[in-house]
Amino acid sequence: MQKYDLFNGKVNNMLHGADYNPDQWLHRPDILEKDIKLMKKANCNVMSLGIFAWSALEPEEGNFQFEWLDQIIENLYQNGINIMLATPSGARPDWLAAKYPEVLRVNTDRTKDLFGERHNHCYTSPAYREKIKIINRKLAERYGDHPAVIMWHISNEYGGECHCDLCQADFRSWLKDKYGDLETLNQAWWSNFWSHTYSDWDNIESPAPQGMQSNHGLALDWKRFVSEQTIDFYKSEIEPLREITPELPITTNFMYRFDGLDYSKFAKEVDVVSWDSYPSWHSDQESDIERAADVAFMHDYFRSLKDGKPFLLMESTPSKTNWQPVAKLKRPGMHRLSSLQAVAHGSDSVQYFQWRKSRGGFEKFHGSVVDHVGHEDTRVFNDVKALGSDLQKLEELTGTSVEAEVAVIFDTENRWAINEASGPRQKKKNYVETCVQHYQTFWEEGISADVIDQSKDFSKYKIVVAPMLYMLKDGTSERLKNFVKNGGTVVSTYWSGIVNETDLCFEGGFPGQLKDLFGIWAEELDVLYDADQNTVSFKNKNGLKLSGQYKAEIFCDLIHLDGAESLAEYGSDFYASRSALTVNNFGHGRAFYIASRNEQKFKRDFYQALIEELDLNRVIEIEFPSGVTAQKRSAGEKDYIFLMNFNNQVVEIKLNKKYYSLLKEKDITGKLRLENYGVEVLKS
Ligand code: GAL
Repeated sequence: MQKYDLFNGKVNNMLHGADYNPDQWLHRPDILEKDIKLMKKANCNVMSLGIFAWSALEPEEGNFQFEWLDQIIENLYQNGINIMLATPSGARPDWLAAKYPEVLRVNTDRTKDLFGERHNHCYTSPAYREKIKIINRKLAERYGDHPAVIMWHISNEYGGECHCDLCQADFRSWLKDKYGDLETLNQAWWSNFWSHTYSDWDNIESPAPQGMQSNHGLALDWKRFVSEQTIDFYKSEIEPLREITPELPITTNFMYRFDGLDYSKFAKEVDVVSWDSYPSWHSDQESDIERAADVAFMHDYFRSLKDGKPFLLMESTPSKTNWQPVAKLKRPGMHRLSSLQAVAHGSDSVQYFQWRKSRGGFEKFHGSVVDHVGHEDTRVFNDVKALGSDLQKLEELTGTSVEAEVAVIFDTENRWAINEASGPRQKKKNYVETCVQHYQTFWEEGISADVIDQSKDFSKYKIVVAPMLYMLKDGTSERLKNFVKNGGTVVSTYWSGIVNETDLCFEGGFPGQLKDLFGIWAEELDVLYDADQNTVSFKNKNGLKLSGQYKAEIFCDLIHLDGAESLAEYGSDFYASRSALTVNNFGHGRAFYIASRNEQKFKRDFYQALIEELDLNRVIEIEFPSGVTAQKRSAGEKDYIFLMNFNNQVVEIKLNKKYYSLLKEKDITGKLRLENYGVEVLKS
């Protein structure tokens, strides 16, 4: 495996730091001075600077105040702290809203925003685009070649949509480019349903609660447009930066489970992917183990966006997250474990929001490295400091990556289409959760997985798991078939192969062009009430050597065999004894179809059987107790294995050979004790 260089030679160690907002403290030089001392004590080597600082940088139009930033940048530099310099577009100054009201967003119900909040400007507005370009150009000219500046942090968590007249006009031109004429558009959207045929481009409006809500083709295109318009805005933001600082890498921070943007497209435009992770550990909704699997899935998703290139954990909390329903403290050990979990999955940084707690404002109770008490004698500060020292010990991992034989398809446009569809149940379609559950067994077994969208190349994997692949984009079925023909294994489920890219149902039976791959056709899809259940039982001699009965709920697909072999059957209702799991030999490979949503134990047993059959590589060949898992990063001949205990209790593991522990800085062999939420990094 290759070693990546994310920062064009400027950085060769793990980054550790925070969002630093000195603009909140310009009236307190004593605090600014103390900050630098504390940063060094906390073993921090990077700060994201200038996010939301527009009104401090340009308090009135054209009046730029950079002197304070000059000073901060110089102080950080003199103290060996790198800088990710932000562009300030995430929140705007009041003069900008007052003088150019077009920058204020219009909501879906067509009400216009007032000044306030953040992340709420119109992405089309020429005025906003112009203003941000001016200030970005000045930032690039002034700081672009500063030795401390290692990266651009563009804006902050892009998201949301605007329905103003400017956006409507751009949406219509976007549609004209896509469809050419109205007849093609009407056909693609099936708009003669309810007499919604469009006879004039000007009659097309984005979805609205008091207007069009029922045309799924329109809704999908609007989401595509919003995503592309945001990316276009980003591209215009970075124009002066690319021109003046072509060597400086660019990132923008993505968000957990955010579905407002198609990150698979956005990722192509950034140099490095970064994301913000705020899991609610220790919650009463799920176990830490389930939560950890979910976070692992997101890490793998963000890493896979750039085909394995390391990503950055741009934000996380060093303590609590104030906006969560219950902002619980991380239990001892969890800060280290969750931070190193990100590194295990390919992050080259651990960064926090924010460095110092604000005295006022919406996030004054959000965890920060420096609390209101103002000194370093706190549990959180010490956790952060210790983590910084751990990261120093992991320096040689910088730029290494993760190699996977397994891919789970998690596709944004498919997600949009599933959520838009009216029926077959309005709630609990749970596309994301389903993808995570299918991924979970691989994670539990210590098997690396990529999480990819359906347009990615499948050929490097041994198995591709595609839960609920409702929307098949052009070309996906051919690529899946080629993958299986050449020996690959594919697994899909109920509610796959239903619609094309504009949400038109496939004719000739489901799962559309995948019927021959799976050797089945699906006639009807039963959906169950929450309390209802069916069962699925393995047949004798099913080839997977599995037996027993499992609960099925929510979705039960009624399928006909057309070449496939039935491996399991439904237990009750009018479709008792019909096939609930099938396998089809296709070329040199096999395609499995899971017809119903089955309890997690089914997925565990099923995927464990496939793991054995396909001889998938575990990152370490040892037995794990429940809640313990492993991940591996590699470069060249070197492998780095992370063992992680997500239990709030001590576990013992028997190692299979001698390893060098990077965290303990010594050889270890035999029994390894992992503390509550303990983690170990081994070199083999
Ligand atoms: C992020 C955001 C930060 C801060 C943080 C609090 O989503 O980028 O600015 O608000 O959440 O958890």
